[in-house]
Amino acid sequence: MTLRLDSTETGIATAARLLREGGLVAFGTETVYGLGADATQPQAVARIFEAKNRPRFNPLISHFADADAAFEQVEASPLARRLAEAFWPGPLTLVLPRAAGCTVSDLAADGLSTLAVRVPRGDVAAALLRQTGRPVAAPSANRSGRISPSNAAHVLEELDGRIDAVLDSGPCAIGLESTVLDLSQPDRPCLLRPGGVTVEALEALCGPLHRPATQSDAAPLSPGRMLSHYAPGLPVRLDVRTPRADEALLAFGPQDGSSPAAMLWNLSESGSLEEAAARLFSGLRALDHAGTARHLRGIAVQPIPAHGLGLAIQDRLTRAAAPRPSSANPKENTLP
Ligand code: TXA
Ligand code: MG
Repeated sequence: MTLRLDSTETGIATAARLLREGGLVAFGTETVYGLGADATQPQAVARIFEAKNRPRFNPLISHFADADAAFEQVEASPLARRLAEAFWPGPLTLVLPRAAGCTVSDLAADGLSTLAVRVPRGDVAAALLRQTGRPVAAPSANRSGRISPSNAAHVLEELDGRIDAVLDSGPCAIGLESTVLDLSQPDRPCLLRPGGVTVEALEALCGPLHRPATQSDAAPLSPGRMLSHYAPGLPVRLDVRTPRADEALLAFGPQDGSSPAAMLWNLSESGSLEEAAARLFSGLRALDHAGTARHLRGIAVQPIPAHGLGLAIQDRLTRAAAPRPSSANPKENTLP
């Protein structure tokens, strides 16, 4: 059952409590309705992908009540601060390097070293974010591949029964997503997605923007950019039923204790895809570090079911297992 909450004090307080408890709450912003979850809880973030029926993970925008809260999570350059001053609260998303103490989960940031942050306009969104007191990850509140919702009824058409609540703050003023500006290379501001703040308004402050020629250039998701994502140092072998003795095993589901693998990390003992999604990045990192220290040959991954969140997990693992660039700096490398 999806609760429909009015934008009263009680409604906002309930929505904030649900978010802190790991629930999914859709809420209105000036652009579109977002499907929110506490970005610091990977299990809550996993539920976003599940509810949206996303066949793959992608990096989500973290939402904040004000610029101070946003800039605790990222390294804000002077230009970022000027843009925040000029356009926040408002339809501008800034991509910046994650701060050392960043509490946003790897799953919300898709393992990237950068984080997209935004301070939406609107009293209800601001009150909700302030009361939640955590970064709130929120993609548009529609099922994958469908149109972004600009009122609460649209959200329910898409997601009724799949999310805990929708906080109704009326129709969105803009109805079009935020502009996404990548400031992670300080001398090269890059427009990743046109949106609510115009290029002209941005260029007045930033100077000329770099504008990737094609959509796929801009999307960190496109296969060509997959190597900019976290990839383990050890080679990854997929769909392994019998691991070797010199491999680390990323397991899924109950184990009978007979695996010859040198070490084992179970994504979900009980076979829950939601739990597996939430633990995927920590599992890869743990096996990569410990396996490298023990000079293991690689990471073997047990078969993951090909339905629901399993597809997104498989997609992420396939990218982690993709052939490595020979260049000294893998982050610089892109595939065609
Ligand atoms: O207006 C909006 O931005 C809405 C409302 C709910 O705030 N949100 C939204 O989220 O449109 P979503 O997930 O549908 O789009 C997020 C965009 C994607 O294009 C994603 O690739 C990009 O932001 N993005 C997120 N994190 C990124 C990162 N670290 N680097 C580059 N791009 C990133
Ligand atoms: Mg969207």
